[in-house]
Amino acid sequence: MNILNGNEVAKEIKLRIKAEVEELKNSGKKTPHLAAILVGTDGASMTYVNAKAKDCAEVGFQSSVFHFDANITKEALIQEIIQINNNPEIDGLIVQLPLPKHIPEKEVTETISFKKDVDGFHPMNVGYMFKGLPCYLPATPYGIVQMLEHYKIETSGKHCVVIGRSDIVGKPMGALMLQKNCTVTTCHSKTQNMKEMCLQADIIIAAVGIPEFLKADMVKAGAVVVDVGITRVEDPNSSKGYVLKGDVDYKNVAPKCSWITPVPGGVGPMTRVGLLLNTLQAVQNS
Ligand code: GUN
Repeated sequence: MNILNGNEVAKEIKLRIKAEVEELKNSGKKTPHLAAILVGTDGASMTYVNAKAKDCAEVGFQSSVFHFDANITKEALIQEIIQINNNPEIDGLIVQLPLPKHIPEKEVTETISFKKDVDGFHPMNVGYMFKGLPCYLPATPYGIVQMLEHYKIETSGKHCVVIGRSDIVGKPMGALMLQKNCTVTTCHSKTQNMKEMCLQADIIIAAVGIPEFLKADMVKAGAVVVDVGITRVEDPNSSKGYVLKGDVDYKNVAPKCSWITPVPGGVGPMTRVGLLLNTLQAVQNS
């Protein structure tokens, strides 16, 4: 069994990005600038936004966090987004999700200029992605593809089972694996023969958000397993009060695999790199 080491690959890609930023600076071009909008004080969202700002600093990008009270009106938030759309200093914009219930995600996502939509959530980018045209790819599937390419994992003709059909992971993941010549099956909560489907897979990408969902008896010997899950599970023995659990029963599944991602240190760092790659692209597009 071999480890798909997201930390290592992310480190390498970040060095490449940093060198490109230096080159941009040396040739008098603009420093990439990512803006993040955070609404409210959700702990996980604050952690993610801070991590994204830290990643930007590490590769030499500029970043700005616009932090608004959870009570901000939909109209006020939309105006803030429009201002950032029109600000030539800013190349990429993300609005951290989830948003408070009174703010419809769809309207927010569609207000962000698709040219600055480095999350790849705007329907224009989703459409381009499904057609295999240049666009901003959603960070997690983008990062996973980068990792599979790094380790030269064969995809052509392989059966890839994606578990989960979310707009930001499952659906785009299936589309990208199809572009990499996989035969793709997407399983979800209504799938009736989940175990049989998974047992046919050469590559399994688990993105259900249910801790340790994928068990050893669902995995064919020699399969490649990618674990997208990072659920916080309460644990009084941990200093943080919780531990992070993936969607894969790692201890029992890992010995059967040819390759597997750990949690943490697998998909997480690659997702963060996906956003950086999109932001670098944004400055090159502007
Ligand atoms: N919330 C969970 N994942 C994401 C993401 O990739 N982007 C944004 N904006 N919010 C998220």
